[in-house]
Amino acid sequence: MANLETNFAGIKSPNPFWLASAPPTNTGYQIMNAFRAGWGGAVWKTLGTPIVNVSSRYSAVSYKNNKLMGLNNIELITDRSLEVNLKEIKEVKEKFPKNALIISMMFETKEEWHDCIIRCEDLGVDGFELNYGCPHGMCERGMGSAVGQNPEVCERITSWVTEKATKPVIVKLTPNVTDISKPALAAQRGGANAVSLINTINSVTGINLTTMEPNPTVAGQSSHGGYCGPAVKPIALNMLAELTNNPNFKLPISGIGGIETWQDATEFFLMGATSVQVCTAVMHYGFRIVTDLISGVSNYLDLNNMKHVTDLKGIAAKKLRKWEELDLNYKVIAHIDPEKCISCQLCYIACEDGAHQSIALLPDSRIPIIKEDTCVGCNLCSLVCPVESCISMVEVKTKKKKLVWANHPANPAHI
Ligand SMILES: Cc1cc2nc3c(=O)[nH]c(=O)nc-3n(C[C@H](O)[C@H](O)[C@H](O)COP(=O)(O)O)c2cc1C
Ligand code: SF4
Ligand code: SF4
Repeated sequence: MANLETNFAGIKSPNPFWLASAPPTNTGYQIMNAFRAGWGGAVWKTLGTPIVNVSSRYSAVSYKNNKLMGLNNIELITDRSLEVNLKEIKEVKEKFPKNALIISMMFETKEEWHDCIIRCEDLGVDGFELNYGCPHGMCERGMGSAVGQNPEVCERITSWVTEKATKPVIVKLTPNVTDISKPALAAQRGGANAVSLINTINSVTGINLTTMEPNPTVAGQSSHGGYCGPAVKPIALNMLAELTNNPNFKLPISGIGGIETWQDATEFFLMGATSVQVCTAVMHYGFRIVTDLISGVSNYLDLNNMKHVTDLKGIAAKKLRKWEELDLNYKVIAHIDPEKCISCQLCYIACEDGAHQSIALLPDSRIPIIKEDTCVGCNLCSLVCPVESCISMVEVKTKKKKLVWANHPANPAHI
């Protein structure tokens, strides 16, 4: 039976599933309910100098049955006083000593960072997360993503924290950069014990066509916000793999971004994370989703004869290579199962107008057929087909050896 107990950069927790710093971790009341529900850890809603929030503050992109496929917010850090937060942190730590309680922070001066670290460590917290990610409101004041986007400042502020903190320090990175390795390596140089990623992505979710105002609206105006939820998972997985595959980057990674199910969490472990954090899915469905995360990942480990999530660490990331390293002689073509086909002909339209004109319709049948000699194996027809496993991509054995671009005769280097 798999053991989910986790030691992430020295932070111990009963399992690797943590709440991300966000509305679900706003109060001690919520975090205690989450721990009762089974969450292994929680990152407290970011503490900092006083702010005021606007109303309204969220908007979403809905798709089909998912009302929060992408969630956008223009909320800032905690709007409650430091004293109230510290009192509740103390209570949570006393009542739940075995769960990981990490304090997210965002301050301007070294003195403010140090003061908060001392006060939190006195309460027995398990670690700190430095919020270098907020893409709105705080960055205009030189904090949040303004720090995450500037490696020099990222390193300097991280070193202010690590020179004072005796507990592990996680740097939370912003995805609003071209190369995630730069701030990650800066955090490493600053003495961080781990990083977490991703925070939210700059976004405007849509426009109300009646009022012609962008969403969410505040007295007829709006502001760009931070995007998260299932829509951002592919971006998070890619950034995670970039760090996992960077030989100069050595720190553990807490994966964040669109995690909703145990399958999502497992994908983050396979890409190199050793703990994961969740926000939108909890805002959508509540703390109870942790039951699915725990049982699903546990069963998956058992099925694969693995003992711990660290056994999954980075297995898929290693298979993510530069395009130049892929085998140009490998070939697949589409195959339609006529028994499963419902004759909707979506595959025909997609290939005819949007791909390689490699699906034909015969006069006496509504079931399309693949023109195997021209099919390039792009996958499009299998992606649009509404019937599960109706179109499969089948490998064509060519007996040719692996051929990469560097050795290909069409490479201009050989001409
Ligand atoms: C309404 C809202 C408020 C957030 N506030 C914070 C915050 O105070 N500090 C922080 O580090 N991240 C904050 N986040 C970002 C989340 O912690 C998380 O990084 C992001 O939502 C991606 O995870 P998800 O896709 O599971 O939501 C906030 C997210 C939302 C939706
Ligand atoms: S999309 Fe799928 S179900 Fe529809 S015609 Fe093509 S193979 Fe058949
Ligand atoms: S795999 Fe691409 S090229 Fe081949 S039939 Fe399907 S859509 Fe057409």
